[in-house]
Amino acid sequence: MSRQDVINVLNELRSLELASIIQYMKHHYEAQGMESPAISGQFKDSAMDEMRHAESLGERINYLGGEPTKQPSEIFTGGDLRKMIADDLRVERHAIGKYREYIELMFREQDHVSRLMLERILEDEEKHEDTWITDLARQEAPAMA
Ligand SMILES: [Fe+2]
Ligand SMILES: [Fe+2]
Repeated sequence: MSRQDVINVLNELRSLELASIIQYMKHHYEAQGMESPAISGQFKDSAMDEMRHAESLGERINYLGGEPTKQPSEIFTGGDLRKMIADDLRVERHAIGKYREYIELMFREQDHVSRLMLERILEDEEKHEDTWITDLARQEAPAMA
């Protein structure tokens, strides 16, 4: 695997992060209108985590001599709160799959600095996944009297 291949992998992940930032910020504003302050705050906090991830990836790409991408991957917005959370959960699960795959790849390539960075990001993505699983269960639970 060449250095350019490593840069391409990191840029693929950065595209996912850029899409997540946009998706979470949009959901943050939309949820404000739905009077869901708790979930609206979770969307904002998640967006800020994704910004840190995009920045870490960008710095590593830059260090390796590449150009950090500005191109987000696909963005899912719109619908009610339940759909937003379901979209976010799906996106996080997709990201988790990619991070796990590329952590293995970086290990095989013995790029342990990149691997460690991806492992730290994966830890955040698993927390995001857990947040949306919990929120989705709350959305589906029968209303308490
Ligand atoms: Fe992220
Ligand atoms: Fe995430």
